[in-house]
Amino acid sequence: MWLNFDLFPDSASTLAPRVDQLYLFVVGVTVFFSLLIAVLIVTFILRFRRRHGNLVGSAVHGSIPLELTWSLIPLAIALFIFGWGAEVFFALSRPPSDAVEYFAVGKQWMWKFQHPEGHREINELHVPVGLPIKLTMTSEDVIHSFFVPAFRVKADVLPGRYTTVWFEATRPGRYHLFCAEYCGAEHSLMGGWVEVMEPNEYEGWLAGAGTGQTLVASGEEIFVQRSCNTCHRPDTQSRAPSLTGIFRRSVALKDGRKVTADEGYLRESILNPAAKVVAGYDPVMPAFQGQLSEEEVLSLLHYIKSLAPADSAGRGTAPAAAPTSDRGTP
Ligand code: CUA
Repeated sequence: MWLNFDLFPDSASTLAPRVDQLYLFVVGVTVFFSLLIAVLIVTFILRFRRRHGNLVGSAVHGSIPLELTWSLIPLAIALFIFGWGAEVFFALSRPPSDAVEYFAVGKQWMWKFQHPEGHREINELHVPVGLPIKLTMTSEDVIHSFFVPAFRVKADVLPGRYTTVWFEATRPGRYHLFCAEYCGAEHSLMGGWVEVMEPNEYEGWLAGAGTGQTLVASGEEIFVQRSCNTCHRPDTQSRAPSLTGIFRRSVALKDGRKVTADEGYLRESILNPAAKVVAGYDPVMPAFQGQLSEEEVLSLLHYIKSLAPADSAGRGTAPAAAPTSDRGTP
C-alpha cells in the first residue's frame, strides 16, 4: 500500500514493516489527540462564549478522578510505545546468530565494502535476498553514518570503533544508501547503492566479480609482512603471548584486570599495545597506530579469529607462523 506513495521509502527488509507499524501507530496517536484537542477548543470557545457584558465564569476547584484520568491514560500510552519501541530496537540491534558477516569502511567520501568471500566494492554492495547480513563497520577518518532507508537501518560509523547493523533483504532491487552524518565537503555525495539479487544471480555475480582474497588470507599475509609471527609464535611464548584460540577468551592483564579478547581489545592491542599489557609480558611490541589501514586491521582480526585451538594435539600447534597453510587461500 505504501509502495506507490512517494513520501514513503521502499520497504525491502524484514525489519521495515515492524519499524513502519510503530511509526504509523505513533503518528496515529499524535493525530488522534491533536484532532481531539482542536475539536474541544473550538467546541468550548463556542459553548462557553460570553453571551452578555457582565457574565463571569465560575471557579473550578479540581477533581481527583479527572486528574487521574488525564495522568494515567497518557502514561499507559507512553509506556506502551516505550515497550513496543524497545522490542523493535532490540530486534534492530541484535543480528541473528546465523547472519553472514560483511564489512564496511567509511572514508571521506566513499563506502568500501568487503564480502566474506573476499570481494571488495566501492559505493556498491551486492547482497543476496533472504539472507541475514551483519555489517561490521568502522571509519578511516571522521564520523559517518550508514543509512539504507528501504531497510530502515541506520548506524553511526566511528573511527577507532566497530559498530554493526544487520538486515535481511526481502525484495530484489536497487536501494539507495546514504551517509547520514555530516562529514565534510562531499558528504552529500557520499552514497551509493545496495543491489539485492536472487541467490543464483548473486552467485553468478560473485563468480564474475573476479578473484578476491579472503580476509583471513590477507590477514595472514600482513601477519607475516609485519613480522608479527616472529614474536607471536605458537612454539615459544617467551616474548609474546600465543594468539591461538585467543578470540573471546578472558585475558589477565599486568595491572590485575581481566578483559575479554573481543574485536575491540584485539584492535587496541594491535594499534596501541601498551594500553593493555598481558600479565607476564613486557610492553615490547611496537604500536601500529597510523601504520595499518582499517582494512588491514580487519584482515588481521580475521586471521587471529581463525586461529582456533588445535583440536587434539594440544595447544601451540596452530599454524600462526606458517604462511603456507591452506586456510582461505583461493
Ligand atoms: Cu560520510 Cu557524511
